[in-house]
Amino acid sequence: MVIKSKRNFPNLPYFYSLIDWKLPTLSRRKSATLKAQTIDDLARAAKKRVPKVVFDYVEGSALDEIGYSRSQRAIRSVQFNTRILRDVSYVDPSEIIFGKKVDLPIVFGPTGYTRLMHHVGEPAVASAASHNNLIYSLSTMGTVSPLELAEAVPDCRRWFQLYVMKNREDSAAIIKQARDSGFEALILTVDTPVGGIRLRDLRNGLTVPPRIRISTVFAIARKPIWWLNLFTTKKLEFAAFRGWTKSLLELAGTIYSPAISFDDINWLQSAWDGPIIVKGVQSVADAKMLADMGVQGIVLSSHGSRQLDRGVPPIEILQDVVKAVGQKMDVFIDGSFMSGQDVYAAIALGAKAVFIGRAYLYGVMADGERGVEKVIELMRRDFINTMALTGNRNLAEVRQTGAILGTK
Ligand SMILES: Cc1cc2nc3c(=O)[nH]c(=O)nc-3n(C[C@H](O)[C@H](O)[C@H](O)COP(=O)(O)O)c2cc1C
Repeated sequence: MVIKSKRNFPNLPYFYSLIDWKLPTLSRRKSATLKAQTIDDLARAAKKRVPKVVFDYVEGSALDEIGYSRSQRAIRSVQFNTRILRDVSYVDPSEIIFGKKVDLPIVFGPTGYTRLMHHVGEPAVASAASHNNLIYSLSTMGTVSPLELAEAVPDCRRWFQLYVMKNREDSAAIIKQARDSGFEALILTVDTPVGGIRLRDLRNGLTVPPRIRISTVFAIARKPIWWLNLFTTKKLEFAAFRGWTKSLLELAGTIYSPAISFDDINWLQSAWDGPIIVKGVQSVADAKMLADMGVQGIVLSSHGSRQLDRGVPPIEILQDVVKAVGQKMDVFIDGSFMSGQDVYAAIALGAKAVFIGRAYLYGVMADGERGVEKVIELMRRDFINTMALTGNRNLAEVRQTGAILGTK
């Protein structure tokens, strides 16, 4: 016997209840942001919004770009241990960093020159961080000064990233600006004794500010809105060095000091009384030395593989570093974290929190502050979902349950 459905007259109230009356948004930019389900989706949207030279500056890394994909593979190789039958009706992804709560274990890492990516620049990123009770780090190479950022987003918890410059007085002047503008901690970047060699930037002829060449005319035709914003908003420059009459090359030569050493940490400890976080640590031995010197935190980082190409992926040494120094100081990590699952992997292997870089830059390039909010929303969604599915109600449980690094 063949089973047949019994038919009625069309049920109009039921039909109406299924209609979604929302009008489609007319802004293509907003629509792409709303539809994005991953950071990769936002990166694809970003690529359509900014000139190639800008996108490449963000996405690219050093030389053969081997380190970056290796880091990504290492993070994705992590498998999560799971506990069952634990009540996960409420999960709490917050963490306490230097005595204060953040709502997710992510920190906005320092990235220079943000107004190149979107004319609203650093304040837009800091504003999204602040709305979500997260910390924002301003780079020495920022397009707003420490004071301008503080004035634009006064409620944002903020850290300042420093390069120890050839001339100590230059560093001291910037440290003073940061202190006077309410920055809570200093991040000392130590993986730039010299600049990395980024072939994409060399091939694209990246300059600061962008130069107008014959090819630029075609670039303007392709991304007119980006160029319009460039020409109709304030001058694009490194704010901390306003008034300096040095070329970009001279500036880089001043900022990156090849003579930087452990003595500089001692000097910094005497010049700054708040927490100091050393960024760019890539070995257990160096982490131990810094812990013995009384530094409050480190970021295991290879600068997103934008400096040394073939460093060890930070996630591969995370557990050993946490075991060696985790009782004495906070261990942060960065490089290729592109989802809440990626962040979960680092927390489960013992990190205090994850610094993000390109992830939020894709958001800001795609859609300014709204794009950054979307990055946070996606990371939060996936992180909380992973916490619940692994049976963990807070970060202490995540670390206890742990994870397995696939590459070991
Ligand atoms: C466009 C760009 C600019 C950056 N500028 C700085 C900087 O000025 N100072 C610094 O310490 N790190 C800088 N970084 C490195 C980041 O702080 C971070 O270490 C790296 O981006 C992490 O990798 P991810 O981008 O894959 O998250 C920059 C990274 C990018 C992508």
